[in-house]
Amino acid sequence: MSEIYYPNPEFAKDAAIPSMDAYWELQNKAIEDYDGFWKGFADEKIEWLAPYDKVLDESDAPFYKWFTNGKLNVSNQCIDRHLDTKADQNAIIFEGDKGDAEHITYGQLSTRVNKMANLLKNEFGVKKGDRVVLYMPMIPEAAYAMLACTRLGAIHSIVFGGFSSEALKDRIEDAEAKIVITADGVFRKGKPYMLKNVVDDALSQGGKSVEAVLVVKRNNEEIAWVEGRDHSYNEMINAQSDICPFEPMDSEDPLFLLYTSGSTGKPKGVQHSTAGYILWAQMTMEWVFDLRKDDVFWCTADIGWITGHTYIIYGPLAAGTTTVMFEGVPTYPDAGRAWKMVQDHNITQFYTAPTAIRLLNKTGEDEPKKYDLSKLRVLGTVGEPIDPPAWKWYYEVVGNSKCAIVDTYWQTETGGHMISPLPGATPIKPACATFALPGIMAEIIEEDGTPTPVGEKGFMCITRPWPSMIRNIWGDPERFKKAYFGDCKKDGKPVYFTGDGAMMDEDGYITITGRTDDVINVSGHRMGTAEVEAAIKKHDAVAAVAVVGKPHDIKGEGIFAYLVLKNPDDASDELKVAINQVIKKEIGAIALCDAMAFVPDVPKTRSGKIMRRILRSIVKGEEITQDTSTLEDPSIVWIIEAIVKEA
Ligand code: WTA
Repeated sequence: MSEIYYPNPEFAKDAAIPSMDAYWELQNKAIEDYDGFWKGFADEKIEWLAPYDKVLDESDAPFYKWFTNGKLNVSNQCIDRHLDTKADQNAIIFEGDKGDAEHITYGQLSTRVNKMANLLKNEFGVKKGDRVVLYMPMIPEAAYAMLACTRLGAIHSIVFGGFSSEALKDRIEDAEAKIVITADGVFRKGKPYMLKNVVDDALSQGGKSVEAVLVVKRNNEEIAWVEGRDHSYNEMINAQSDICPFEPMDSEDPLFLLYTSGSTGKPKGVQHSTAGYILWAQMTMEWVFDLRKDDVFWCTADIGWITGHTYIIYGPLAAGTTTVMFEGVPTYPDAGRAWKMVQDHNITQFYTAPTAIRLLNKTGEDEPKKYDLSKLRVLGTVGEPIDPPAWKWYYEVVGNSKCAIVDTYWQTETGGHMISPLPGATPIKPACATFALPGIMAEIIEEDGTPTPVGEKGFMCITRPWPSMIRNIWGDPERFKKAYFGDCKKDGKPVYFTGDGAMMDEDGYITITGRTDDVINVSGHRMGTAEVEAAIKKHDAVAAVAVVGKPHDIKGEGIFAYLVLKNPDDASDELKVAINQVIKKEIGAIALCDAMAFVPDVPKTRSGKIMRRILRSIVKGEEITQDTSTLEDPSIVWIIEAIVKEA
């Protein structure tokens, strides 16, 4: 599609980056003087407690260090430094599943975070460097806990509430967490949904490093209680002082871990730094969402994912804006819920995943027209490619053909946006991430580092380190190097491989084409095929399995499993249900298979490697164009194809 949508000039004139000339001025400055570019922003944006001595240290690449020996504290950056001017401004607007709302000012946020930090420090001995696991719903206490950790210099690791006890236990053990913070449960679609029991299960299976479980009350349902280990946040918090001095942290001290799926093995603990991360969270917040005074920003992600970290909590609060936190789902009690919230809270920027847009479109095409959405200026998408029809509906019906749409491309590992339109500058092509942000050196290349020709698919890479990049995989530096840097070098320096494919058009616009590795993107969530296969193999009946992504109307991709049974006579619908139950136990409901097929074998090369590409083509109903002559048994392809067609 070659249609171009230009920024509204009225809006552009006051934008953070008001034109493509302004964009190029910034980007050229970064190209000419990379350190100087970043120094300017680091000095302007961050409240340093002690100055740094070097902008970027590349001596131990790819273990880059930014703003070496500088001192700062993220809870100061997000709260304290705003108090002189913003104590009475809303920091967080919380809306519960049932419509209950709470407005929390920066002043109140300060009090609550200080108290929470004192609770963690005084009652549980949490200190700098300790790991704290959060298994929390979307309630304000989750934000207090994150910020309290940063105040003390403890490293939080948030585990999404949809992960199972087994997955939670693995993450607790990998990080050797000292304490778990959770809630009794949450409300979802008007009903209580339990969380604390999952923590109990996880800790009954392992997680011996955990000394205490701190439980926040949310739905007041009955829960089991382990005396001595479990503690009530609500009973203890009032006794805490509201003054807890923040710990001066080194620029490179780890800020948090967040586990994410890769193409091989277990999920990896992506480790982020303090200064570089918060700097880019704040800069992208200001640029990409074109923040202005009195804005109210709503990102619909869950804090269990990177989008929730960077664009519900750290970016908005570092930038001193008002952020919305929502406990529920956007289609309950009806398909107008999200739009009602936009109206009720005067929301100016709305940021969500294409899956949600497709769902809201499908369940309530005309719903947005029933509400006053006139305050909206910027609409964002993230997590997966957006298809042009969904983009158009978002633009025309939700944005009333007046809002800029920013298709933001980034990853857990990048910390913040990498490629995105700028609302006041970029002429937008629908469903296109457009250009790298100023300071980001993005290139589409072949495996050997040569540039991919215009109009062809290549690997999306970032060729220079950037401040908010992943610093390490927790406890596994070798895997870090191997997973992201490979052998490819540019000007003698390692190149970061995103794992995504991309294509540039003749105007220099970048479109992300999807993963190039064995990661499936389900509703914008990353699922490693290896992880799902490992779970399925735990079922006794299964001899071999291969899972692939299958296009799905709403979710983008769903999970499809090819199952080879030890005894083919066991094939049944009941077995499919039982296999999904194993997945639910091992990973969580988010990894359930949408469909399965029992097959006599999977196509393998003579060296035993599963040819997933063929399996992907079969499930999409595409013609098989791959060379099958290298297969151990080429005839299996046609057999499987017939089975899948039949199903
Ligand atoms: C995909 C989410 C197309 C991509 C922030 C990436 C996208 C993975 C886009 C990261 C986009 C993210 N267009 N694909 N705008 N944004 N992706 O770590 O495959 O949960 O590698 O971070 O989502 O997912 P993650």
